[in-house]
Amino acid sequence: KLLAKGSASEEAAILKGKRVLITAGPTREPLDPVRYLTNHSTGKMGYAIAAAAAAMGAETKLISGPVELGVPAGVTRIDIGTAQEMFEAVMADLNFDIIIMTAAVADYRPKSVQSQKIKKVPGDLALELTRNPDILYEVGQVKDKQILIGFAAETERVLEHAEEKLRKKNLDMIVANDVTVKGAGFGSDTNVVTFITAEGEHIAFDQMEKAEVAKAILKKAVSLINKA
Ligand code: C5P
Repeated sequence: KLLAKGSASEEAAILKGKRVLITAGPTREPLDPVRYLTNHSTGKMGYAIAAAAAAMGAETKLISGPVELGVPAGVTRIDIGTAQEMFEAVMADLNFDIIIMTAAVADYRPKSVQSQKIKKVPGDLALELTRNPDILYEVGQVKDKQILIGFAAETERVLEHAEEKLRKKNLDMIVANDVTVKGAGFGSDTNVVTFITAEGEHIAFDQMEKAEVAKAILKKAVSLINKA
């Protein structure tokens, strides 16, 4: 029986035989045995992409920081804590057709991790931080045929900052979102995004469920593979 264009059955197969890698969630950067630095990432966007990729037939690997979400059906999840661990897990295998990094990786970690709990003393305490690897940037430096997609969560001059990241990190596409807009960003079930491709195409969407954003990203990624 003929299938209508864009029907569920047709969608189900578009990533068959493809390998998709996704990073998601926050990282945790330990200070001492009982404390860490982190952020408000819930992992929802990345998990929605992983679920959609698996549903579209991809062999899907999800490298995830600590979140409250279950492993989506058909997805292989690798749990990490720190940015360094996420970096090593990503670099261990880059043989993917599509790599999408949604993780809110901590840009800095405490310069030294105390082996004992830090005691309070009178007065202030200064924390010294050091840079974590920019995982997306590093993958961009070594990538070959992979379609590499990043996110830019911004609070101002959103498209300008996103375009700058697209170029600096050698991406095929960046998903820009203004996290100050209602219905976008951390914790929300919806997002308001613009896709910007390396070829300079801009595709702006109205507010959508993260599951719909996920499908749109994956369909665009497939079209970028076909163009390459
Ligand atoms: O530079 P910025 O952190 O805004 O870039 C965001 C994008 O880069 C996201 O796709 C995020 O997953 C990725 N990233 C990363 N490693 C970092 C920082 C960001 O992979 N250390």
